[in-house]
Amino acid sequence: AVAAESNSKLLGFKGIPASTSDTIIVPEGYQADVLISWGDPLFKGAPAFSQGADSQAQEQQFGDNNDGMTFFQISDDRAVMAINNEYTNHEYLFAHQGKNMSADDVKKSQAAHGISVIELMKKDGQWVFNQSGRLNRRITANTEMMMTGPAAGHDLLKTEADPTGKKALGTFNNCANGQTPWGTYLTCEENFNSVFGANSSVALSSTYARYGLSEQDAGYEWYKHDPRFDLAKTPNEPHRHGWVVEIDPMNPNATPKKRTALGRFKHENAALTINNDGHVVVYMGDDERGEHLYRFVSKNKYNASNPAANRDLLDEGTLFVAKFDAKDGELKGDGEWVELTFGKNGLTPENGFASQADILIFARQAATQVGATTMDRPEWVAVNPKSQHVFCTLTNNKNRGVKDNQPVDGVNPRAKNPYGHIVRWAPSGKDHTAKRFSWDLYLIAGNPTVHTGLMGGSDNINKDNMFNSPDGIGFDNAGRLWIQTDGKYTNEGDFSGMGNNQMLCGDPESGEVRRFLTGPVACEITGLTFSPDQKTMFIGVQHPGEELAPSHFPDGGNTIPRSSVIRITRKDGGIIGA
Ligand code: FEO
Ligand code: CA
Ligand code: CA
Ligand code: CA
Repeated sequence: AVAAESNSKLLGFKGIPASTSDTIIVPEGYQADVLISWGDPLFKGAPAFSQGADSQAQEQQFGDNNDGMTFFQISDDRAVMAINNEYTNHEYLFAHQGKNMSADDVKKSQAAHGISVIELMKKDGQWVFNQSGRLNRRITANTEMMMTGPAAGHDLLKTEADPTGKKALGTFNNCANGQTPWGTYLTCEENFNSVFGANSSVALSSTYARYGLSEQDAGYEWYKHDPRFDLAKTPNEPHRHGWVVEIDPMNPNATPKKRTALGRFKHENAALTINNDGHVVVYMGDDERGEHLYRFVSKNKYNASNPAANRDLLDEGTLFVAKFDAKDGELKGDGEWVELTFGKNGLTPENGFASQADILIFARQAATQVGATTMDRPEWVAVNPKSQHVFCTLTNNKNRGVKDNQPVDGVNPRAKNPYGHIVRWAPSGKDHTAKRFSWDLYLIAGNPTVHTGLMGGSDNINKDNMFNSPDGIGFDNAGRLWIQTDGKYTNEGDFSGMGNNQMLCGDPESGEVRRFLTGPVACEITGLTFSPDQKTMFIGVQHPGEELAPSHFPDGGNTIPRSSVIRITRKDGGIIGA
């Protein structure tokens, strides 16, 4: 592929080169400013950022590693944002780098997770954080939640502390997000397994292994000080995580609700759209090598004239999983949504499924039972408001063509897929509840300066816009596709010339892709939301300087790096991207 003359009517900015600098770079005529960073005080009187802060301080501060987020406008000069704080880096959270965890350190780590709800106000024409906002709120790994929907109250969700199985504590590993037209925020629990371990040997059934749960945690050591995370003491606790949680950002006292009808897996985001007939449809990826792509269709219909009637639409409906077909050698084809309903498609007691709750709690096993396609790590899904096409990033997968259950196929066409790709499908008859769809690959990332053929990428990839591991995606109102990366930033070998993680903008009509932003050292770019006038865009810089890579973003000097939300505007006040 070579850099072509532009024929895009949508892309109005000048693309920028790859970068390895420890800064944010945006195109000519744009400006990028820090809105808020890990550790900033959310309330009047809360302690200022300091690495030595204790758990009580962190509970009143912006959480770590911000990811998905949504901007909700309230009036001309007032708005609220809900922002995920996916996880935390103990190497920066503590001076001891996590090597000497006390009970309060565990509490601090738990408080760095969850969601930060922040109020914004307009000041000198720009959206800024308002520390006096009454909607400012922290939701952490210890906030009280309600379990709702078909699995709520099931025996597998009961613990000694909660014999009802309906009152869970906390949300964590909140990756990406979604939003509803009735004004609520959806936060998606992803790698929840990473904080569970065991202080003594415990016999765990295979259902734990499928979700990555074992006696060994990922190094957070919560289980050493908090029995809730010790699988030997509280074996049902992990069943209460891995869900989509609905939060009302307008009511700081509202109890978040874990919507079990949407299934339990390692949720990436929740792309919600209202179908032409009023049904609520939610597309969801399960980000793990060889896992699946899901769709939820609500039983009842959205009622625009009665917002209160929509509040529990996500509690009743049908969950489906995707099966992709292609003719031999073709990178396009058809597909179908297979229903995950008790008694259908082999989801019966003979095959180990005793009820609908069972299917939802073990959605991954149900997907395997019905023969769902194993995918190259489905990350974000986004629906094009102009065409009703749906896009999903398949970020990379070193197991493709290596593990028996993950053969090279049309929709996952490269062995060991190092670069990732984006699949796009059109629901049959533009009906998001239809059984069938047709699909193709919108983009195959690659390195045309190193490889030819599929590893060089699709025709819309060239030396000036190449990248790897697409992850966050989202459309603006005009139908521009924003693509964020969470990939290798070695800038060497297969990845030479790609630089740091970045954000690009694609024109779904012409196929053109142009680089819009480059991030600081060892970060990923993730999370995107717009003000409704499309003149302010917010994106996230997550884990700059991870694994002690040399970053001092955003404060400079000798400071430790901090994940941050970035506000992007045009100097002439125009629409972002146009
Ligand atoms: Fe949290 Fe799959 O990214
Ligand atoms: Ca992601
Ligand atoms: Ca990722
Ligand atoms: Ca991440």
